[in-house]
Amino acid sequence: MSKEIGRRDFLKAAVAGAAGLAATGVLGGAAFADEKDAMPFEGKKKFAGIGSVREVTDDIYYVGVSDRRIQLFENVYPIPRGVAYNSYVILDEKTALVDTVDRSVTGQFFENLTAVLDGRELDYLIVNHMEPDHSSAISEVLVRYPNAKVVCTMAASLILNQFFACDISDRGIFVREGDTLNLGRHTLTFVQAPMVHWPEVMMTFDDVSGVLFSADAFGSFGALNGNLFADEVDFEKDWLPDARRYYCNIVGKYGPQVQAVLKKAAGLEIARICPLHGFIWRQNLGWFIEKYAQWAAYEAEEKGVLIAYGSIYGHTQNAVEILALKLAERGVKNIKMHDVSVTHASYIVADAFKFGTLVFAAATYNGGIFTPMDNLLRDLTAHNLQNRRMATLDNGTWAALAGKQMREEIAKWKNCTVIEPQISIKSALTDAQQSDLDALADAIVAQM
Ligand code: FEO
Repeated sequence: MSKEIGRRDFLKAAVAGAAGLAATGVLGGAAFADEKDAMPFEGKKKFAGIGSVREVTDDIYYVGVSDRRIQLFENVYPIPRGVAYNSYVILDEKTALVDTVDRSVTGQFFENLTAVLDGRELDYLIVNHMEPDHSSAISEVLVRYPNAKVVCTMAASLILNQFFACDISDRGIFVREGDTLNLGRHTLTFVQAPMVHWPEVMMTFDDVSGVLFSADAFGSFGALNGNLFADEVDFEKDWLPDARRYYCNIVGKYGPQVQAVLKKAAGLEIARICPLHGFIWRQNLGWFIEKYAQWAAYEAEEKGVLIAYGSIYGHTQNAVEILALKLAERGVKNIKMHDVSVTHASYIVADAFKFGTLVFAAATYNGGIFTPMDNLLRDLTAHNLQNRRMATLDNGTWAALAGKQMREEIAKWKNCTVIEPQISIKSALTDAQQSDLDALADAIVAQM
């Protein structure tokens, strides 16, 4: 590529294709032909290996890639088991690629794509979601396959241009709710899914296979280990916590929008769900859809008590340890405790969606709520947590203010009941306050 061409020009050119380049005068057609071999991703010669691909069902292939090096998803959420960026190819009279991958795995992705296409042209790139973990390879796809049309919502095309300076006005097919695209044997129907998890999102349904390409919905954290299908693993035991943590933290804020899409999905004959992260579903779909319905409605999955505490020298922790013992003595079996300074908030957010009763205990710090607890409560506010019963306990050596402020934050949450009494300790629990903890334990059990 010519050295004088800046990145922006190159990306514009990438979208416009060689003809567009020549037309803009940035680069003459002859020069482009001469220098084509020097392009960093010339294609088949470079990516001639055997792709790590697997058939999903007739004509549909998985070309996604897992990343086990990444530490933080969205640079926020710890993912010790990595993550999979799913992408799919439909081979029909026309070929279609459904979404791409994160920039960290494009090398393997193009190897997979090249292997599956096996010399065929790519006719369509379907963009269900424009977040860069799925769209970072789009520019390169458009260069490699200059005849491919981009099928997406108008909103997606605008975001594509914002992120990657890709103007697809000359090769975009902008679809709306219910629009269809015929590939030969397969006809695809597009289902708008705004705010699941960005405004431009759509899903794609294939009438022949019953596959719903569901974008972020029904996804999960965790790299895939050969087993692409949820029925090939013990999903409930080994993966449900990751799926829950993914949903609650990534999509949890948008419960009403998820409910709206679930309602639309109920009208489709879905046989398989192909999300953009994690396992593909081809069995037991109803069970997982029901989980989504619960999460989207902010209904607790389990009758139990989550105790999240922030303790500086251990005295606040001691108070809630005693409370937990008292709950256990009263027959509560399902108790989960988290030290907010130790456990990443994303795990506690997931448990807050799971349990019906929540206890928040924190020391006062700088005249406010102990910082990690303050962050957790704001995080829960941001994720629209609702329909819970909650108790608070605070600690303060000379001015216990955290309890009042925690309750002010909790008051923002819809349909939540505060359980009395609110307990406030001064530095350390006193013998006289044991009866307060008994009263709180009784009240929690009575409300469960
Ligand atoms: Fe996996 Fe909203 O992107």
